[in-house]
Amino acid sequence: MGSEFQVVCVTGAAGFIGSWLVMKLLERGYTVRATVRDPNNMKKVKHLLDLPEAKTRLSLWKADLTEAGSFDEAINGCTGVFHVATPMDFESKDPENEVIKPTVEGVLSIMRACAKAKVRRLVFTSSAGTMDVQPHRKPVYYEDDWSDMDFVLATKMTGWMYFVSKTMAEKAAWKFAEENNIDFISIIPSLVVGPFIMSSMPPSLITGLSPITRNEAHYSIMMQGHCVHTDDLCEAHIFLFEHPEAKGRYICSSHDASLLEVANLLRKRYPEYDVPTEFEGMDEGMEKVSFSTQKLLDLGFKYKYTLEDMFVGAVETCREKELLPLSREKHTNGACH
Ligand SMILES: NC(=O)c1ccc[n+]([C@@H]2O[C@H](COP(=O)([O-])OP(=O)(O)OC[C@H]3O[C@@H](n4cnc5c(N)ncnc54)[C@H](OP(=O)(O)O)[C@@H]3O)[C@@H](O)[C@H]2O)c1
Repeated sequence: MGSEFQVVCVTGAAGFIGSWLVMKLLERGYTVRATVRDPNNMKKVKHLLDLPEAKTRLSLWKADLTEAGSFDEAINGCTGVFHVATPMDFESKDPENEVIKPTVEGVLSIMRACAKAKVRRLVFTSSAGTMDVQPHRKPVYYEDDWSDMDFVLATKMTGWMYFVSKTMAEKAAWKFAEENNIDFISIIPSLVVGPFIMSSMPPSLITGLSPITRNEAHYSIMMQGHCVHTDDLCEAHIFLFEHPEAKGRYICSSHDASLLEVANLLRKRYPEYDVPTEFEGMDEGMEKVSFSTQKLLDLGFKYKYTLEDMFVGAVETCREKELLPLSREKHTNGACH
């Protein structure tokens, strides 16, 4: 579809998903405007500037979700926008102002910029946190499910402000899209696991690799877990951007996998990490919860990667970048203590 002539904007481009998406868009011939908060922070942007096509088809733009109109310039002249950026600070002391407000007002500011620039389609990276956070989980989740905000606000579980921010942002975006006739697509990824090009530890791998690092606070997120490979997710973003019939929300999740299944896989593949065999609150008979990805498959999308590909890709990249020790015994002061 002549992607070499298309200019697209990716927000949150330096992050885990954003940077992999930028890499894939460049490979496909797109010209990419990558927004970051600080284009001069080489630790955060070097992996983007090092991409093979960066010199000719990548530009960095400074933009922040906390500032109204901040994305206008980067978006003006684009045919498409991938809005990936989101504040991820689960430890925030001021969740209302640091997480919720920037996420909701940020998406609306980006939508106003898209309307002004007559962008063909806006693809929003949503989250399973908008869909399945409920007091009693259902056996199967579909795109018309929404998280229970009363439950989230009453419980204030780990990451509650993230679930609230993403849910409120996506709902506000749907309303704005309808009222302003914007071609808007949202993708609902499960836990994203796989290789990456950024230099620091991706937030979702703190969760995904918790059976290795024994970060117990993250176990609950993976009890009845769901995952998708970085590359499959970014491929789905481009597929949905390009597909003329794409419409609405799309769950993007290739595997339902419990914490025990992931731990077994990691133990077999990496015996040197001595991954636990039992987890408090987790038993083999736990009911399976699945995410239906049928809507995406029906549109013709095909997932390429196995569960093992995801976790091996993540572990190997972390080891190459020295973000994970090579074994539990050898690095008693590292992540595997
Ligand atoms: N990873 C997962 O498992 C997963 C699952 C479901 C959904 N998602 C969604 O995927 C998207 C990307 O997540 P990720 O895993 O790639 O996380 P990430 O590596 O933390 O990337 C998030 C990016 O958002 C940017 N950002 C944060 N606050 C910002 C602000 N105030 N203004 C502008 N940019 C801001 C950061 O930009 P700087 O580089 O400028 O600091 C960062 O690069 C998010 O929308 C998230 O909700 C992720």
